Amino acid sequence: MDVLVTGGAGFVGSRLALALAAEGHRVVVADNLSGCGGWQLLGAGAVERVHADIRIADDLERLPGGAWDRVYHLAASFANARSVAYPQLDETTNVGGTANVIAHAKARGCGLFVYAGSSSSYGDVAPPFREDGPMEPGTPYARTKLAGEQLVRRSGLAHAVLRLFNVYGPGDVPDPWRNAIPNMIDALHRPDGRITLFGEGATRDFTYVDDVVRVLLDAPRAAGTTTNVATGVETSVRVVAETIARLVDASRERIVLGERRSWDRVVRRAADVTRLRETFGWVPSTPMEEGLRATVAWLRAEGLV
Ligand SMILES: NC(=O)c1ccc[n+]([C@@H]2O[C@H](COP(=O)([O-])OP(=O)(O)OC[C@H]3O[C@@H](n4cnc5c(N)ncnc54)[C@H](O)[C@@H]3O)[C@@H](O)[C@H]2O)c1
Repeated sequence: MDVLVTGGAGFVGSRLALALAAEGHRVVVADNLSGCGGWQLLGAGAVERVHADIRIADDLERLPGGAWDRVYHLAASFANARSVAYPQLDETTNVGGTANVIAHAKARGCGLFVYAGSSSSYGDVAPPFREDGPMEPGTPYARTKLAGEQLVRRSGLAHAVLRLFNVYGPGDVPDPWRNAIPNMIDALHRPDGRITLFGEGATRDFTYVDDVVRVLLDAPRAAGTTTNVATGVETSVRVVAETIARLVDASRERIVLGERRSWDRVVRRAADVTRLRETFGWVPSTPMEEGLRATVAWLRAEGLV
């Protein structure tokens, strides 16, 4: 297949692009390198790398190749905290940029358009979150990711919308705007570093990146639907922090309780995975401790902590 991966220099996109290349597909990655700073995550992988900004239609027109058998649209301004600080970036990237990628896919021809949606778009509703249940997106990121879904559904393209839940694993780097797990690991590798929990009782549905990639590779199964990609297990953020402390041999006293962040109203998050199980015949189940161990090992091997 000829495959385009937007955002393919990033955490999930790079692992997806490498997995597609390993299956023998021709893979073109389009990324403006704003999220991670470089092409490092793709290593020496056999993928074509194009510096392209999805907000600029001309950049997409210049992409090599003809029709796409599949487009994976993962490029996005990520994630909630950043979007509260820079909401305009989310509008132009996650909505305007998505419209450009859809237009590009239609102009070139596209067998299947796969969109990485986000569990953030459910917002502050009671778990487990069902694909056809209520949605109350509370941040610019959550709202613009949902708007992107709607653009995809109305595009006329054959599509699959996959809503990813708190992905973690090798490839995710510590960064104040990004996910909790690499930042927790980073904090405990600093002499006086501490993990701050933003309020008590928070839960998330943490999903290991290689499980997510496996679902993405098999996306045609989910054509025409919106599907949660998650474990269905609601995991305490405090338990994750304590597990990391144990794995890196740090004292649990370095986990401290802070104030809930004013913009973050989502205390509990977990998916209903009925549709995922019915569609794919399995659900992600990499044990949290195993996934965390692999994440710590990767961050250490890369010299990132
Ligand atoms: N990681 C998660 O926990 C998670 C959860 C739910 C949904 N998602 C979605 O999955 C996708 C991938 O997430 P990720 O964690 O790999 O994020 P990431 O930030 O690592 O990757 C996104 C990539 O998009 C690129 N990008 C940003 N703006 C761009 C632009 N204007 N033009 C071209 N490229 C641009 C960035 O440089 C980056 O490489 C995103 O769409 C995100 O919304 C991720």
